[in-house]
Amino acid sequence: MRSDWWKEAVIYQIYPKSFYDSNDDGIGDLKGIIEKLPYLVDLGVDALWLSPVYLSPQIDNGYDIADYRKIDPIFGDNEDLYALIAAAHDKGLKIIMDFVANHTSDQHLWFQESRKSKDNFFSDFYIWQDAKPDGSPPNNWGSSFGGSAWTFDERRKQYYLHYYAKEQPDLNWENPFVREYIYDMMRFWKAKGVDGWRMDVITSISKDWQFPDNPRSNTTENQQNGPRMHEFIHELNQAVLAPFDMMSVGESPAAKAHDAYTLVDPKREELDMIFTFEHMHIDRKKGDVNGRWVLKKRDLVALKEILSNWQHELKDKGWNALYFENHDRARVISRWGNDTNHRYECATAFATVLHGLQGTPFIYQGEEIGMTNADFEITDYEDIELLGNYDYYVKQQQTISHEDFLQAAHKVSRDNARTPMQWTAEKNAGFTKGVPWFKLNPAYSKINVANDLKSDHSIYRYYQKLIALRHNETILKEGTYELLLPTDEQIFAYLRKDNQKQWRIVANLSENTIENPFAASDQKAQVILSNQKNQLVSDYLQPYEAYIVEA
Ligand code: NOJ
Repeated sequence: MRSDWWKEAVIYQIYPKSFYDSNDDGIGDLKGIIEKLPYLVDLGVDALWLSPVYLSPQIDNGYDIADYRKIDPIFGDNEDLYALIAAAHDKGLKIIMDFVANHTSDQHLWFQESRKSKDNFFSDFYIWQDAKPDGSPPNNWGSSFGGSAWTFDERRKQYYLHYYAKEQPDLNWENPFVREYIYDMMRFWKAKGVDGWRMDVITSISKDWQFPDNPRSNTTENQQNGPRMHEFIHELNQAVLAPFDMMSVGESPAAKAHDAYTLVDPKREELDMIFTFEHMHIDRKKGDVNGRWVLKKRDLVALKEILSNWQHELKDKGWNALYFENHDRARVISRWGNDTNHRYECATAFATVLHGLQGTPFIYQGEEIGMTNADFEITDYEDIELLGNYDYYVKQQQTISHEDFLQAAHKVSRDNARTPMQWTAEKNAGFTKGVPWFKLNPAYSKINVANDLKSDHSIYRYYQKLIALRHNETILKEGTYELLLPTDEQIFAYLRKDNQKQWRIVANLSENTIENPFAASDQKAQVILSNQKNQLVSDYLQPYEAYIVEA
């Protein structure tokens, strides 16, 4: 019987490079995570998901793996990871590792061998195709990091496919040896105590080998959910996840609520949960030639509709993974809220909305103290996606100006989440005594863990309360969900109900003081949690006010 501990859990994501540096080389490391375990235990989370720490040239911050079984020296060594797993387990925390097997680094031995010839054992470990007669790539597929998804290899005289950087060649999952090697790697980590996997772009592992063109060149529209995806994921489930009882959450950029169950319905034996992207696109102008760099005002009605659809569609047929932030997303309060005058209220309001839903909430490092976006200059950024897209759209295609691109980057770029964790107001936010690998967000002198914990407006303490509710209140795990005021453009409110009781979760996700449509009943109700000083429900909702009442 498989355990489902993750249904009651709150999971905390660590981006190791930016979490805490224990040896003053400017880069966060595994020993740094061990040092900070008490902070995480105190927060109350149940499991840690570590972004990749394996050997890697770090072209995409570790999402380009050169050896799946070896820890990259910038993070420590294998012994450090085993020590972290032991220390975490000792404190009741589970460890979830990042599984990046749609692609490897071009430095991986398999690719080094594969590119040598068309007829060695590793030749078919990757996706190689001949050039078209005119020498151009086999089709018009795009890389998420800008330009074509194909790069010509001079030695093998063929193109290889890469959905991301050219240094991240896609593995060929049609090859049974690839799959077996990957399952074996997973068993290796299971033997070291790893409890589960976050599966990077798992819905890309199967390709359409007819290689049909996309409707528009150098876009990625039809590169997901390939013909053998379910078969491969089921096989992986049967080979490793089920027999070793490992939890899985797969990244699924193209999933829609109505068919998401095909990946997470327990009867299908594929994944436990998926990360959807749908709700993260409520501020994006779809189909623009400049991809994700053209934004519109966040659409709260759409956010409510999308999250509600996921609540309904997966009810009794799967389980939601709930998130607003991760290492690929900007800080939610800067992106969709107010990170200046109402920072505390805004951070806690978004948290209340998320943690009140059915599913497993994921907190991204720094979210629990209301970290904000960093408005850097282009030259300050590190992220290959941002720099690649800048090069492609601003310099090569010239379809967007430098200013407009930068403005969008300030809102949504991945680097907003990757600045080092802000622990104190001291130099480098107490993250390192060395030279930090990436610029700190200058806001750290005000926004940091030490200040937050001292404040009577502590976001961290609010999270502690939310997490405790998730642990103690089965209504949050099992209760039904009903959206209230679906067309209201400022309030996100819903009911959760079980046999014993009914809770109303209310958040004013606007900067306005507005009439509280639930005042009459909620003023008589017991307040379970509120982000207001007086803990009372009044006739008006203050900017970003949020509360939960037993209605
Ligand atoms: C999704 C990861 O979350 C992202 O950081 C990475 O760049 C791509 N997949 C490629 O691995």
